[in-house]
Amino acid sequence: MRFLGAVTTALLLSLCSAAPQLNHANHALHEKRDGVPHQWQKRDRAYSHAKLPIRIGLRQRNLEHAERYIRDIADPDSPNFGKHWSAEQVANTFAPHPETKDAVTNWLIESGIDRSRISYSTGHNWVQFHSTVDEAERILATEYWHYMHESGGYRMACDSYSLPQHVQRHIDFVMPTIQLDGLRPVPRVSGILDGPLPNGAKLGSEPCGVLTTIDCLRKLYKIPESHTAARGNEMGIGEWVSYLNEPDLPLFFKNFTRPQIPGNTKPEIISIDGGKTANKTTVAGNLGLEAALDVQTAYSIIHPQNINVYVVGDGVNIDSSGTFNIFLDALDESYCTYKGGDQPYVDPVYPDPNDDGDSEDALGAYNGPLQCGGAPKSNVISVSYGQIEGALPIFYQHRQCHEWMKLGLQGVSVLFATGDTGVANQYNEEFPSACLNAHDDYFDVNGTRYAPSFPVNCPYITAVGSTAFISNNTADGEKASDELGAISGGGFSNYFALPSYQASAVRKYMREFAPNYGANVYNDTGKARGFPDVSAIGLNGPIIFNGESFAVSGTSFSAPIVAGIVTLLNEARLAVGKRPVGFLNPMFYKHPEAFNDITIGNNAGCGTGGFNAVPGWDPVTGLGTPNFEKLKKIALELP
Ligand SMILES: *[C@@H]1O[C@H](CO)[C@@H](O)[C@H](O)[C@H]1NC(C)=O
Ligand SMILES: *[C@@H]1O[C@H](CO)[C@@H](O)[C@H](O)[C@H]1NC(C)=O
Ligand SMILES: *[C@@H]1O[C@H](CO)[C@@H](O)[C@H](O)[C@H]1NC(C)=O
Ligand SMILES: *[C@@H]1O[C@H](CO)[C@@H](O)[C@H](O)[C@H]1NC(C)=O
Ligand SMILES: *[C@@H]1O[C@H](CO)[C@@H](O)[C@H](O)[C@H]1NC(C)=O
Repeated sequence: MRFLGAVTTALLLSLCSAAPQLNHANHALHEKRDGVPHQWQKRDRAYSHAKLPIRIGLRQRNLEHAERYIRDIADPDSPNFGKHWSAEQVANTFAPHPETKDAVTNWLIESGIDRSRISYSTGHNWVQFHSTVDEAERILATEYWHYMHESGGYRMACDSYSLPQHVQRHIDFVMPTIQLDGLRPVPRVSGILDGPLPNGAKLGSEPCGVLTTIDCLRKLYKIPESHTAARGNEMGIGEWVSYLNEPDLPLFFKNFTRPQIPGNTKPEIISIDGGKTANKTTVAGNLGLEAALDVQTAYSIIHPQNINVYVVGDGVNIDSSGTFNIFLDALDESYCTYKGGDQPYVDPVYPDPNDDGDSEDALGAYNGPLQCGGAPKSNVISVSYGQIEGALPIFYQHRQCHEWMKLGLQGVSVLFATGDTGVANQYNEEFPSACLNAHDDYFDVNGTRYAPSFPVNCPYITAVGSTAFISNNTADGEKASDELGAISGGGFSNYFALPSYQASAVRKYMREFAPNYGANVYNDTGKARGFPDVSAIGLNGPIIFNGESFAVSGTSFSAPIVAGIVTLLNEARLAVGKRPVGFLNPMFYKHPEAFNDITIGNNAGCGTGGFNAVPGWDPVTGLGTPNFEKLKKIALELP
């Protein structure tokens, strides 16, 4: 984060004096933060002339029908199964009503913002203008302050803001406002490396309980060797500040794949807002660990099908590492904001309006415009990163969740890893396992309430938890992973309601197995979205990283396994002229018999034992782990 350097005081003063005085009597509180989150300190008032790139998220139409729309094309019992929507159909169905855009525009003009300063996103979902702190304070009836993060970063934010009642119903939220926390997606791979493998480690050199090779996975989940590559069926993998070290790939292919993948095989790298790969043999620190695990795991399952790696954000400083939001912008032109910048201070703003051209740019900070559309979609997208539900505003999460829903309508399967700290969550390396405070949604090392993850709390995502082998004999099956650093993330959202596809599974769990901790520990209403949906082995995935072999653990291993299996399901459907399976959950919950039910283990955290794995769905391992043969039969029978 950079501070505004030189200021054009004269111009700004004249702006202020020209602005009409506003009457705030008709304003109503729109969003409010309860306090200052852990690691942040409220300092002094923001300079009145500092620039704020204001983005107003307009309320979209027809979202109340979203669940019905998606059921219509994703429920196996629907006659329209697989009849995915076009991007245009999605954009037209959900675009805000013209009345919404007009009401917000008129309000801004009445508040002294000249029409020439106001612009709209391509999809007309966002209104934006470059404001000063002074103007924003008047319009939103608030005060902006500087907040300092323990690590030294600064932000401008407010504690609450208000909107006139007549425009409130047209607006989801305004940014930058109350947002402080939850910047950077956290990789779901155990930071603690299980250590280098013994010299000469390769396929078949260790039992499955020590190294989960592709042979172990094939046996466990009945995955065949793959033989075909359908054009356009590349599997998508999202990476945030994790550079894929390409020279590791041929080494991995040689030692850990069967049939051996040719050494010159490379994924398609899709750079979003400055994202890049490494081409040195050494990636600094552990930065490349996540990318190595995701890409190597997926290749061993789906090759000769290729991979699209979306590398998001330039990663030069913490605020420019990108979020899930700028990834969505790049995939969907109708979603993104116009002329750069998304949700400032949650999402990096490109180009940075306060950029003073300082030395960070020399390190390769991205200064181009925000990418809007243009990135190819993939039929399956696997993401092994997450954030914390309690650390992000509700409106912000709902808006992104609806965007994943729109991808689902277009036939995309989106899978996310649930995290490796059970019912707790991972804030950063310093707080690898923290929970929510008793009284608010803030994250604390001493918190006692469960901390659900984002975006696996979103019901339009397929959330993947982790398991472990019971013994070295794969026939003994799996249990929930309880190894420190690889405890299956699971629980119930405090923000998202129970989706219909999951209702009977969750109700059965609540009726027969719910622990009796009380509402002050987790959302025990039985009305909340539960996760994970499914799981896969999360321990001892083989990787080659910086030329050395390791076994690594976490739901980061589980997610690309399930996503790889779904890619093979699509391959089978495409081969007979059918469409990709698309949004998976309605099909999965209708067919629990296609999963190995996991009934041993739990996901401890926050000073409790967490939840138990039980017969049927549970918030530890979901429906269980996939049986490819059974899933393939089901997928091929569907239209
Ligand atoms: C690959 O396996 C060979 C033994 O076949 C071993 O010598 C080599 O060290 C392994 N490579 C890595 C990077 O571990
Ligand atoms: C990779 O190498 C090329 C050629 O030396 C260079 O231009 C490029 O910047 C390098 N990329 C990275 C990520 O280091
Ligand atoms: C957490 O609890 C420990 C032990 O009671 C205490 O020393 C520490 O200060 C607490 N940390 C915070 C951030 O409250
Ligand atoms: C598998 O065997 C190894 C010894 O070869 C042992 O250390 C490990 O604990 C066993 N794993 C399981 C899951 O039983
Ligand atoms: C539990 O989830 C439901 C459904 O989303 C919600 O209405 C309720 O407020 C949640 N309870 C808590 C304590 O967060």
